[in-house]
Amino acid sequence: MRTIVVYKSKTGFVRKYAEWIAYELGADLFDASEVSAAKLAEYDAIVYGGGLYAVGINGVGLIKKNLGLLAGKKIVVFGTGASTATDKVYAEVRDKNFTADELKVIRYFYLRGGFDFTRLPWYLKGVMNLMKWGLQRKKERTAEEQGMLDAFDAPVDFTDKENIRELVAYIRAK
Ligand SMILES: Cc1cc2nc3c(=O)[nH]c(=O)nc-3n(C[C@H](O)[C@H](O)[C@H](O)COP(=O)(O)O)c2cc1C
Repeated sequence: MRTIVVYKSKTGFVRKYAEWIAYELGADLFDASEVSAAKLAEYDAIVYGGGLYAVGINGVGLIKKNLGLLAGKKIVVFGTGASTATDKVYAEVRDKNFTADELKVIRYFYLRGGFDFTRLPWYLKGVMNLMKWGLQRKKERTAEEQGMLDAFDAPVDFTDKENIRELVAYIRAK
């Protein structure tokens, strides 16, 4: 099966997963900026990965806008965020990004990434500084919120090659 892995990554976590997946599958690997819908149509299976920004999967429109052209192909989308991979996070991301009809043809995965403030572009540093300020002002923080706050001082990386196993098996399955 000819497989293409396409990624859109701001600080490198999605790219790392995309590289692991492409290596495992012997697939072609591209940054989303290099890929057109016509290019995707050359393949039997498509894996798209994007970082989560306010629960949205970065750049997923490339897939969603071209579902007609890609009909009959195996399509996987993975979202990568800093949040712990709970059922709640999985469902929240799924429901924000996909309709029930889209989910009939797209298999979605959540692969936990990390957070690296130092690598963010300036405009996202601004957004995140507001979030940091909000977290600092809270009298009580959940473990997740405290973890997020701590991550501003020292980058955290939760990427794990084990996380790609189910996705890779799905593409390999007949
Ligand atoms: C402005 C902003 C919004 C974010 N929103 C979310 C979010 O809604 N859920 C989440 O789990 N992570 C969120 N994150 C964390 C990123 O998704 C996480 O760092 C991810 O690993 C980024 O991958 P990338 O650098 O490859 O794009 C956000 C980060 C920034 C800077």
